Amino acid sequence: MRRLRRDSKNVILLYSFILNDDMPMSDSRKTDSGTTDTITDKLWAGRFTAPTDAFVETFTASVGFDKRMYREDIIGSIAHASMLAHVGVLTERERNTIVNGLQDICLEIERNEFAWSTELEDVHMNIEARLTDRIGVTGKKLHTGRSRNDQVATDIRLYLRSQIGRINLTLQRLIDGLLDLAEREADTIMPGFTHLQTAQPVTLGHHLLAWCEMLLRDQARLADCYKRVNVMPLGAAALAGTTYPIDRPYTAKLLGFDAIAENSLDAVSDRDFVIEFLAFAATLMMHLSRFSEELVLWSSAQFDFVDLGDSFCTGSSIMPQKKNPDVPELVRGKTGRIYGHLMSLLTLMKGQPLAYNKDNQEDKEPLFDTIDNLKGCLRLYADMMPQIEVKTDNMREAARRGFSTATDLADYLVRKNLPFRDAHEIVGKAVRFGVDSDKDLSEMSLAELKGFSDAIDEDVFEVLTLEGSVAARNHPGGTAPGQVRAAVKRARLRRCEIRVPELSCLAK
Ligand code: ARG
Repeated sequence: MRRLRRDSKNVILLYSFILNDDMPMSDSRKTDSGTTDTITDKLWAGRFTAPTDAFVETFTASVGFDKRMYREDIIGSIAHASMLAHVGVLTERERNTIVNGLQDICLEIERNEFAWSTELEDVHMNIEARLTDRIGVTGKKLHTGRSRNDQVATDIRLYLRSQIGRINLTLQRLIDGLLDLAEREADTIMPGFTHLQTAQPVTLGHHLLAWCEMLLRDQARLADCYKRVNVMPLGAAALAGTTYPIDRPYTAKLLGFDAIAENSLDAVSDRDFVIEFLAFAATLMMHLSRFSEELVLWSSAQFDFVDLGDSFCTGSSIMPQKKNPDVPELVRGKTGRIYGHLMSLLTLMKGQPLAYNKDNQEDKEPLFDTIDNLKGCLRLYADMMPQIEVKTDNMREAARRGFSTATDLADYLVRKNLPFRDAHEIVGKAVRFGVDSDKDLSEMSLAELKGFSDAIDEDVFEVLTLEGSVAARNHPGGTAPGQVRAAVKRARLRRCEIRVPELSCLAK
């Protein structure tokens, strides 16, 4: 009984600890009741009579993560103010004051002198409030003819667009590194696998070109996604457009957008472009994960095909002999979280009625985390590729074992007029003999081979060699060294460049 009481007390203590350990309130102006004591500094405070609950304020704020879009927010505002002046809604003087103020705020942020406030909810209201602090009443005119709904959609598109540019450069560096390696290893013979069982000899160059094909498709997907990212929502305002005589193509031109969004309701609520990017990222990670799996296998003592380079491995704190392939393992591991982010966005969007809903604020963390991790994985892979040391003798030896030229022997018999099914059976028997006598096909004597079929002659040894086997697959897409070299040359011309406009309006 006593014990039970003590347990239940512990439970109560644990609960009260959890309840008291809630997120800290955001500032020093909290009252005992847990609410803030003023509502006057909220940019939308007009229709409210009671202040926001302090925890609601913390819970609904996004500034902690959306402040990373401050440059895009400022650039978007500069373009918006410039358009408003162009159509006569602002004077040139007002526009210049606003632009100057925004440029100063950018410097303030970059010098780490900007005081971000949770009460001001997000990056947009933090910057706008600071603008009015700095330049006075003119700052309050910036939000004319727009809403945070079209503003945030614009910021995400500008941000993602520049990240796509960077991601593509690193992806290209990885592809280039792989192509160089494939060219260098065009003659290197290794076992090709199906079911992870030795199947037929291939060249390492050919295997690496398979990786390149995956990455080239990823690159094409990224370039295609970019087309739908680079569309401007600004002008949609809250949802229905605006009564001001705005010039959307003018703003779009200033911001380097290729088009303006056609429908205002869609413009503020659409996050398909994020989903497309995350689908690209998930597919690319799936590919990197597959490469990782092969590199982990290949660098094991059992395969011993490659050495990954000391700078990309770590040791064990207990087993002195260990050199662990941490980088490929972690890349493989990170694939799961990026799949998760794609699933988050799909689920986030599935139940939303038109147009903007606060749910949409949940788009940013999965997107940002994907960008950060994807960039990290690509960079590591691009750095690691040129440092991989290939153990060509071990690869060759592994191909020699495992009867990898059995199909070549069957094809040889077909050329001697045997039906393929009969040839298959004859070679199967030869392999059985090889397993029992521990001999590869190329190590059997002509007499032994003839025991399986009279059609076999001295010339059989040409097809039983590894070199003969890979050289015989001499057509585009085949593993012959000459084909690999030609494919590398073609792949070098297949890159997709993504030209992201550089905007210079932040410089004073
Ligand atoms: N922080 C918001 C977001 O990320 C910005 C848009 C807010 N709009 C609104 N009507 N509350 O989505």
